[in-house]
Amino acid sequence: MTGVGDAVPIVTIDGPSGTGKGTLAVLLAARLGWQCLDSGALYRVLGLAADRGGIDLDDGPALAALAGNLGLAFDGGRVLLDGVDLGDAIRTEAAGMAASRVAVHPGVRAALLAWQRRQARAPGLVADGRDMGSGVFPQAGLKVFLDASAQVRAERRYKQLREKGLDANLSTLVEDIRERDARDRDRPVAPLRPAADAVMIDSTALSIDEVFDRVLEEVRRVFPDQVHEVAAE
Ligand code: DC
Repeated sequence: MTGVGDAVPIVTIDGPSGTGKGTLAVLLAARLGWQCLDSGALYRVLGLAADRGGIDLDDGPALAALAGNLGLAFDGGRVLLDGVDLGDAIRTEAAGMAASRVAVHPGVRAALLAWQRRQARAPGLVADGRDMGSGVFPQAGLKVFLDASAQVRAERRYKQLREKGLDANLSTLVEDIRERDARDRDRPVAPLRPAADAVMIDSTALSIDEVFDRVLEEVRRVFPDQVHEVAAE
């Protein structure tokens, strides 16, 4: 259906913000030795580029044109725009909110689709986002949908921000998370929704290690030859 990428093993991890999908995707990709696609970073970079270029976040056609010419590159954990490392600028709450706003435009999503699909390269890909399993990689062998209560997601985010020495307000974070969830779930194009064949995991009461073990179990089941046992320390 999508050409050369069909033969590459793919695990998709979708879900709302703050469920730990990003951390899980990085850990899993490292464990398997596969590529990792943080698709949210694309929308975050676009939001930031629009802001810097003075483009209105409601201007779909202008944003789609910008998305089609985005000088974006991933280098390990770094995200580069026109060769410049964006650092933590795309990880703020404001960048997440801007990303959610640019992501509603169908032209933007279409412009970013081919780029995302090209990341399906051997030996395999772990992709995290909102529509990885339901839209971008429908052929993925394993689709995970990770959810957690808004309260717990906000508490995790609060802890992360405080650990970085940043100011945070828990009730504002809960409100922001609810607003972003609603926009991501209710948009007409690629709404946040589990694929019909997704494995559902609720991480409200689970640690990241517990979620990782559960997902690795699924990977072993679906791709038995891809998981090589790591000797116990
Ligand atoms: O995963 P994240 O928090 O970095 O994503 C930021 C926003 O980008 C999210 O609120 C909605 C949008 N997004 C999307 O629409 N589709 C994706 N595959 C990934 C992110």
